[in-house]
Amino acid sequence: MKCVEIFKTNVSTSEEADQVINAVKKVLPQAQINFDLDDCDKILRVEGISTPSGMVVSTVMELGYYCEAIPDKVCTDSDTSLKDSENSWNHSFNENKAIWGFEPSGSAVLAKELFLQHGVKEILIPGFGYGRNAALFIKNNIEVTGIELSGSAIELAKEYYGNDVKVFHGSVTSMPFEKKTYDGIFCYGLLYLLNAEQRLKFIKDCYNQLKPGGWMVFSVVSKKSVNYGKGRSVGKDTFEAAKGIEVFFYDVEKIKEDFEHYGLYNYFEIEEPANPTTTFSFLWISCNKKQIT
Ligand SMILES: C[S@@+](CC[C@H](N)C(=O)[O-])C[C@H]1O[C@@H](n2cnc3c(N)ncnc32)[C@H](O)[C@@H]1O
Repeated sequence: MKCVEIFKTNVSTSEEADQVINAVKKVLPQAQINFDLDDCDKILRVEGISTPSGMVVSTVMELGYYCEAIPDKVCTDSDTSLKDSENSWNHSFNENKAIWGFEPSGSAVLAKELFLQHGVKEILIPGFGYGRNAALFIKNNIEVTGIELSGSAIELAKEYYGNDVKVFHGSVTSMPFEKKTYDGIFCYGLLYLLNAEQRLKFIKDCYNQLKPGGWMVFSVVSKKSVNYGKGRSVGKDTFEAAKGIEVFFYDVEKIKEDFEHYGLYNYFEIEEPANPTTTFSFLWISCNKKQIT
């Protein structure tokens, strides 16, 4: 399916527009790109099979121009559900604030051990939330960058942990947000919120943002969890937990299938507190990207 993404910019002349078009062409060679400089928003239009809006924004901003994706005009059906999901997460963070407390997840503690053991210094955290896991890595001298859909979560992160951490505001479905690669990636509780196509693209995008020899850790809810089967069934092993939030439950077979091309190294079950009285079963997954020899 072709996607058309529209961006508001401050590009004003046709020379500047050509400069931007050439730069975006370099990162998205298959895309059709044009400008509407008569529009008051100096619209940049990018059309392609897959248009990572984060990459377009960072490429244009690197040239010194303003650039912002206009979400309402973005292409597919999944954008409606993305908007629903963002609203739902914003509502949840506005109502509950630090909903999982300030302790890191058990999965983050294990990932921190793995990262320290392998000299990981800089990581990306997709699904950053309000920063409870990031705080653990920072305490252990690991630099973090986040990606987070919910503006409310990012506001809470700033309130709790300060302004220093860089968090891209957007959906992981628009990865990559930058050309940079990382020694490690840690992703807790997000992969299973995506649909099948988005999950595969997300795993691949994460792997592409890892340096050779780098490590990535995902923690996903398991079919053995007590919440499996709760809520309206919306697909195979997928249930609607709240409006706009659909959860896919993993098992070992599915982990092998989804991660087999991405350096799958290890996986095991781990219990994570859902609230003070209940735990949910998760699967902790580590992948190691091949060193270039
Ligand atoms: C289950 S929470 C986990 C948050 C955090 N990892 C933690 O453990 O505290 C999932 C997080 O992913 C974010 N999220 C959901 N869909 C997303 C998407 N498509 N792109 C980026 N973040 C997303 C939510 O806003 C929420 O902060």
